Amino acid sequence: KIKIGVISALHEEQAGLVEQMQDVITIQRGMRDYVSGYLWGIESVCVLSRIGKVAVAATTATLIERFGVTHIIFTGVAGAAARKVRIGDIVVANQLVQHDMDASPLFPRFEVPLTGLSHFFSDKQLSNLMSKAARQFINEDFAAKITEQCRQEFYIDRPVVHQGLIASGDQFISTAIGLDQINNNLADVLAVEMEGAAVAQVCFEFGVPFAIVRTISDNANQDSPVDFVQFLEKIAACYAYGIVRQFYSL
Ligand code: ADE
Repeated sequence: KIKIGVISALHEEQAGLVEQMQDVITIQRGMRDYVSGYLWGIESVCVLSRIGKVAVAATTATLIERFGVTHIIFTGVAGAAARKVRIGDIVVANQLVQHDMDASPLFPRFEVPLTGLSHFFSDKQLSNLMSKAARQFINEDFAAKITEQCRQEFYIDRPVVHQGLIASGDQFISTAIGLDQINNNLADVLAVEMEGAAVAQVCFEFGVPFAIVRTISDNANQDSPVDFVQFLEKIAACYAYGIVRQFYSL
C-alpha cells in the first residue's frame, strides 16, 4: 500500500497542501510537525524539514522509519544554474549531487564516502510523473493562478519544464563566482538548492523511491536574496500546490 511523504523546506513551498488533507493527525518528532492523513485519497505525510542537508536528512529518515512512507516527493524552489533555465521554470531532478562534498584525497571529489557514488538517481517513474504533473500545471492552471502582474514582475513568459542534474549544498548561492565554482567542477547542473541531494542519499540508503521538483526562484547571483524572498512571498505556494495536485491526479 502506497504512503507518500511530502517534504518542503519552507512553509511557502507547501502552503495549501495541509489544508487539503483529511483525517489529519499531527505528530511532533525531532522538532518537526508530521501531518499525517489522506491527500486526494492517498495516504500521505506532509512535513516541513527546514533548510539544509542535515535538516532534511533527519526528516527523510524519520518519514521512512517512523511513518513508514513508501515514496517521497520534495517540492520547493531553487536557483538557476544554467542559461536555459529561467525564473518561473520548473526543474525535476533525474540526478542529484552534493556540491559541497569533498573528502579528497581520500575519496574522489563529490563522492559520498563509502557509497561509491557522487550522483544519486531519482526514481525514473516518479520523476517522469512529476514532469508530467509540472507540464499539466503550466498548461492547465498557470494562466489562471499566476496573475499577469506577477508574471511581468518576474519576467515569466511561458515556463519550461526541465529534467536533469540538481546540485545541493549548505550554501545559499548569491554570487556569480559562487555559481561558477559549482559549474566549473560539475557538468550540466540545471539548478542549485540546499536539500535535494541529501534526500537522494537517504532514500538510496533505505531503498525508497523519490522525486524532487523545484521551481526556479532566482538566478543564483547577486539578485538572489531579493528575488528569492519575493518569489517565495508571491508565487512559490501556487506552483507547489498546483504541481502536487496534478501529481496526485495522475
Ligand atoms: N534555493 C533557492 N535559491 C537558491 C540559491 N540561490 N542557492 C541555494 N538554494 C536556493
